[in-house]
Amino acid sequence: MVFTDFGNKLSQHSGILQLMDDIAKPLPGNVVAHPLGGGNPARVPEVERAYRAELEDILRDGDRFEDVLAHYDSPQGRVEFLETAAAFLRKEYGWPISMENIALTNGSQSAMFYLFNLFSGTCNGSKRTLLFPLMPEYIGYADQGIEEGTFVSVPSLVEYFDDRTFKYRMDLECVADYLASHPEVGAMCVSRPTNPSGNVLTDSEIHGLSELAHEYSIPLIIDNAYGLPFPDIVFTEDAEPVWNEDIILSMSLSKIGLPSIRTGIVIAKKEIISAVGNMNAIAALATGSMGPVLAGNLLSSGRLTELASSVVRPFYEEKAMKAAAWIRKYFDGTDFYIHRPEGSIFLWLYLPSLSIPTLEFYSVLMREGVVTVPGEYFFFGSDDVKHHPHYDKCLRINYSGDAYLTEDGIRIIADKYREYSL
Ligand SMILES: Cc1ncc(COP(=O)(O)O)c(C=O)c1O
Repeated sequence: MVFTDFGNKLSQHSGILQLMDDIAKPLPGNVVAHPLGGGNPARVPEVERAYRAELEDILRDGDRFEDVLAHYDSPQGRVEFLETAAAFLRKEYGWPISMENIALTNGSQSAMFYLFNLFSGTCNGSKRTLLFPLMPEYIGYADQGIEEGTFVSVPSLVEYFDDRTFKYRMDLECVADYLASHPEVGAMCVSRPTNPSGNVLTDSEIHGLSELAHEYSIPLIIDNAYGLPFPDIVFTEDAEPVWNEDIILSMSLSKIGLPSIRTGIVIAKKEIISAVGNMNAIAALATGSMGPVLAGNLLSSGRLTELASSVVRPFYEEKAMKAAAWIRKYFDGTDFYIHRPEGSIFLWLYLPSLSIPTLEFYSVLMREGVVTVPGEYFFFGSDDVKHHPHYDKCLRINYSGDAYLTEDGIRIIADKYREYSL
């Protein structure tokens, strides 16, 4: 069978495919599964109760439930929710936006797919690129460009601390130089908090990027899937919610309890929102209604952001600190570093003495039932990111699952690291 270039690009093996497969597929034989791999968030009882109460209200309210199920929403998303979200963001942050600045998508993953291909690829006969200013970045972006060779990236700087932690820093000067000599860059993108590292770009780093975006008249896409004001899985103080007309902010309801319902929220200037809505019409007709319906009242009443800051954030912060403590306990005596856990649902482990690439180490761990994600997938774009000292020495660990399995998984990873150390 002959597939097109587009078909081949999207149907090939990819890191994100492996990760999502690992979540869903059972392990062979009697191996106990330690699911530290994919991006599944945790079940947080108080958040679940809030959605259940919303659903019960809908079920009690005449035929409202059937009405929600029986109609397509508009391609831009459920109008009621767009108005609610715009009013909320205007009131809370003073952002000058209306519903024409917001579009919904079926998950923020598909929002990124639309945006990346809106701003990178062939344009008037020449190639536009998308710049990732801080590698490592989210595995789920790596294969989203329809055309080959349209993603470029700048490797992060690394600052090490005495307590076996480190933090990725953006090389803003390098990003500025790159933009100055590459007029073909069509947009920049960062995740904040960053998947995989748990880094949170500081306000000043974001400000620097936003100024560059303005100077070069290109959008800065900020993927806020773990960010502020919800789900607020951010443990640092130096991170304000931010939007202006140079920024496209992508949000999601997935990490605040609704990953299965697929709701992405894009905030951008009107021209971009209109393009996203039109793309939705062609690719998906409309977006799902259930997410906006379950979250609408919670957002307008302030309950969603209150749950985020008073329940979701502390829930994950406690888990992150426990997992970091287990790493220190079980890796004691080995050469290991953890990225400072500043946000997201992951810990990023740097194992400088590993004698095999993490792609192989991942298979060793799989045989023991420990599912992780090897670091190589998170270094993509320009070739020089493959020379980053962390390229094949990092593992991403999702700490949001069962505490016993997380601890035991970390113990097994440490044991195997001892076996596979230089
Ligand atoms: C950084 C980042 N962006 C986007 C997504 C996509 O999330 P969703 O499509 O569920 O909104 C994820 C999922 O894990 C993510 O980690």
